[in-house]
Amino acid sequence: METLTQLLSAVLDGGKLVRIIFSGKRKKSLEYKKITLRPVSIKGESMYQAEYHYDKKVTHLNLPQKEGAGFAYEIIKNDFKQVNILTENEDIQILAAKPDQPKIMRKAANRKADAPMHDRKKQYIIPDGTPCDFLAELGVMSPAGKVFKKHYAKFRQINRFLEIADDSFDALSGDGTLRIIDFGCGKSYLTFALYHYLKIMKNRNVEIIGLDLKTDVIRFCNQVADKLGYRKLKFLQGDIADYESDGADMVVSLHACDTATDYALINAVRWHSKVILSVPCCQHELFSQIENEVDDPMLKHGIIKDKFTELLTDGLRGLKLEAAGYDVNMIEFTSLEHTSKNIMIKAVLPEKRSRAASEAAMKKAVREYEALKDFYHVTPTIDALQKPLDMAR
Ligand SMILES: C[S@@+](CC[C@H](N)C(=O)[O-])C[C@H]1O[C@@H](n2cnc3c(N)ncnc32)[C@H](O)[C@@H]1O
Repeated sequence: METLTQLLSAVLDGGKLVRIIFSGKRKKSLEYKKITLRPVSIKGESMYQAEYHYDKKVTHLNLPQKEGAGFAYEIIKNDFKQVNILTENEDIQILAAKPDQPKIMRKAANRKADAPMHDRKKQYIIPDGTPCDFLAELGVMSPAGKVFKKHYAKFRQINRFLEIADDSFDALSGDGTLRIIDFGCGKSYLTFALYHYLKIMKNRNVEIIGLDLKTDVIRFCNQVADKLGYRKLKFLQGDIADYESDGADMVVSLHACDTATDYALINAVRWHSKVILSVPCCQHELFSQIENEVDDPMLKHGIIKDKFTELLTDGLRGLKLEAAGYDVNMIEFTSLEHTSKNIMIKAVLPEKRSRAASEAAMKKAVREYEALKDFYHVTPTIDALQKPLDMAR
């Protein structure tokens, strides 16, 4: 009997593929709802392009043709159980609830593949070539709207952040004022971007606060906000750990160093903030605490221990947020070629879930958190987040 791997190799290496559509999520938590795969030509090279379809956006991934079959198999194994393959002479439907026992149905077709699509310029939320007040003021683009070459990575990061943030706004109520706090805002490219996007482009009522330790940075950001007429964007000097407020619907914390991220998460949970977007960095706290007989031979290498510390710290943070009732996803913020600080913790308080399901998920996360902590003999700052949310919510 033909296996899934054999079928995919025949189709993807056979040169007659028009398109594959992967659908039917295996896990509800999967952020994209469909992937399509089709042949493209990039700089004269034949490749496959995967399109990830989210609620409100589509992202792309290009890969060499020889990797197509393996890529498709991984998608079926991990993400989707229904596959529709359109080739020039055949339609193939695969039902792969169990990938090793797929149900395969074939029927003849007669179509001509489109000429492979050629390179397309990426469409950004804030486009290159169109003047944008805050980007010009912060020196990322010229007043005429041309992004400076040396700031292109920052420009891409800003747009990537807006794409992710945009996906989160569904979880926030459509009317009323949206209150957002950016902890450790620094020079605030992303804080200005959020304001510009929500207030100027989407015409939403927002109040955004940026908080940072540095007085000079805060002064500079307030001057820029005044100059741009961003009236509901304020910057305050202060320490995240001591910050007192009525709260926020959304908490953002990007590259707030070491345990500053924990205090940002602790504040967000205390306020029952609906959405948290956090890209941690400089996770040093657990480096000197980790002890584990099995892992020690591997962790004797500083560079490995460094990376492991980052992952353990963020893994524990994710579990702690789940224990507090949040749905947590770890997503790639920017590509690794730009920075290694590229994991974003995205946590959203679900609107509807039965009390029993919430309690079960939270208890499970508590158990997993405690087990992981004990296994590595660590006590992270996020431990201070002791109380799960009020279940009567
Ligand atoms: C690497 S910068 C990131 C700036 C900005 N969020 C970004 O991603 O472009 C980190 C910022 O966090 C601020 N910071 C670190 N610890 C903090 C704390 N405990 N309270 C407030 N700000 C803090 C630093 O002053 C610095 O400006």
